[in-house]
Amino acid sequence: MTASQVAGTFFKYASIPLAAAVGLYAILLGLLTTSTFQSHVVYLHAIQMTWFKDLNVPETFGFLRNQVTPFSIKTTDGERLYAWHILPLELYRQNEASLIEEPSGFVSDIKSRVGLQLLRDDPEARLVIHMHGAGGTVASGYRVPNYRALSAGSPEKIHVLTFDYRGFGKSTGSPSETGLMMDALDVIDWAMHVAGIPPSRILIFAQSMGTAVSVAVSKHLAIQDPPVVFAGTVLVAPFVDVATLVSTYRYIRANEFNEEKYRLTIIHAEDDYDIPWHHSQLLFWHAVNASTSTGICYDDLEQKKLGSMVDLGAAGSMMEWRTNNGVIREEILKTGLHDVIMGYPVITMAVMRNFDAADPSFMS
Ligand SMILES: *[C@@H]1O[C@H](CO)[C@@H](O)[C@H](O)[C@H]1NC(C)=O
Repeated sequence: MTASQVAGTFFKYASIPLAAAVGLYAILLGLLTTSTFQSHVVYLHAIQMTWFKDLNVPETFGFLRNQVTPFSIKTTDGERLYAWHILPLELYRQNEASLIEEPSGFVSDIKSRVGLQLLRDDPEARLVIHMHGAGGTVASGYRVPNYRALSAGSPEKIHVLTFDYRGFGKSTGSPSETGLMMDALDVIDWAMHVAGIPPSRILIFAQSMGTAVSVAVSKHLAIQDPPVVFAGTVLVAPFVDVATLVSTYRYIRANEFNEEKYRLTIIHAEDDYDIPWHHSQLLFWHAVNASTSTGICYDDLEQKKLGSMVDLGAAGSMMEWRTNNGVIREEILKTGLHDVIMGYPVITMAVMRNFDAADPSFMS
């Protein structure tokens, strides 16, 4: 993100009147030259956006008593990541009495909790691992409605695991590129080995800056022996830089080479002023290109889009690219801004589509 985009994001969240904003913007630009401030601008981790509320009381963000279990996940290098395990609604209803009885607040031994047992002991349970964007915490802005949208399609089965990267919210440490990637890997490791969910029942959801983290991690896991490939990856409003494009290329190539089934969905709104939707077009092209043995140039793909893109009118458009192994899907909405989109039904649909394709018995 450029400084003005970052400042734009900042001011939007903070809702500061224009005159003050102009003054602050000048101060921000001045601060940009100092290196400690630079890391604060890239990650915006010091901006919490959950004023006067305690993350350990998720009820104040609109959840039912103990629907959310706040806990922490230890990283391999000793940081503690603050995390929320969010129960889907129908599952909550079925277990309401025992959930209400438990004490609320931060949990140091999550294995003792009903919520985790419901996730771990149900062979039908699905888990969405959420990697949020720059700034804020697990509870900021449109992230809470986003969690609802993620599990809305199957409220008996779809759990959400969301966490704050190092240096964000209540997590220890300070952010760095490798640090954030390590965080995501350790959270995935927790999901697979403590919660006991195999990757075929895990979906990775990422938004904005989180998409860079998720692509880097997905590539890392896809080239392991044996490879780790999830039920699907859904990227909303991705921010695309060279490193992300290279990781995307390697991720797709590795899965094609290993003949692993992979599903990548890219969703962006045309009215996203923080990260323009052209980032998604670029990412989609690189992903499609990587899925072919000879490559495809941008203009050729645009030509193909004219033939196979589905025009959804006011809802936008959709284009799907299928190979023998994978599905790469691009959904461009007309509206949805940068983060309001996360609570939209397209998000619910993307989750359902991926879990259904990974295992058709999911919907039965
Ligand atoms: C497109 O794919 C081809 C074949 O894998 C590769 O040689 C080329 O570098 C790719 N181009 C881009 C822009 O990624």
